[in-house]
Amino acid sequence: MPRTLLVLAHPDLAASRVNAALAEAARPVENVTLHDLYAAYPDLRIDVEREQRLLLEHDRVVLQFPFYWYSVPPLLKKWLDEVFLYGFAYGSGGTSLRGKSLLIATSTGSMKEQYGPGGAHPYPVVELLKPFEATANITGMVYEEPFIVHGTHGLGDAQLAAYQDRYRDLLASGVLRERTLTAA
Ligand SMILES: Cc1cc2nc3c(=O)[nH]c(=O)nc-3n(C[C@H](O)[C@H](O)[C@H](O)COP(=O)(O)O)c2cc1C
Repeated sequence: MPRTLLVLAHPDLAASRVNAALAEAARPVENVTLHDLYAAYPDLRIDVEREQRLLLEHDRVVLQFPFYWYSVPPLLKKWLDEVFLYGFAYGSGGTSLRGKSLLIATSTGSMKEQYGPGGAHPYPVVELLKPFEATANITGMVYEEPFIVHGTHGLGDAQLAAYQDRYRDLLASGVLRERTLTAA
């Protein structure tokens, strides 16, 4: 059973519906460490050594966040910039993350149909998440098929509950659903 570090990054979790629900679904799962970044670092000053230690202690890393401007909330970007360092995550001697898996779990306000050619957003979310696939590649991590909750604006309670079940199962299974690296 892999040990999972769930890095949750929501700038206003108290006002969150979807990510708060997903986090609550994940919390009781065995071997999952729920790490709420904005709660840990309200002053946005990240303890890099602590974060690297946490990464070393786990086999699977989940980055969970609401999709903001086709990207991540700012503290998660800062976390990546400051924690995934040369010599730790990549480059000479930077093998600490090698073999761990990376799962992106995100939620989008827009519906799945609105992402893609002809839609309001011309690229599918999996394409917009390519920087994470590239990050997994350079750090030697296994990139898992992203978990995406689409259409949060119109999501009913039953649908949200179904997503919670799927998320819980995915975290509990420990089975990797590896995504085959696709060419640019
Ligand atoms: C600053 C900001 C940027 C956003 N950018 C996007 C976006 O690029 N695409 C999208 O589909 N939804 C976007 N949204 C909608 C959020 O993704 C959506 O409200 C969130 O996933 C709901 O999750 P929550 O209930 O946990 O807050 C944005 C929302 C905010 C506040």
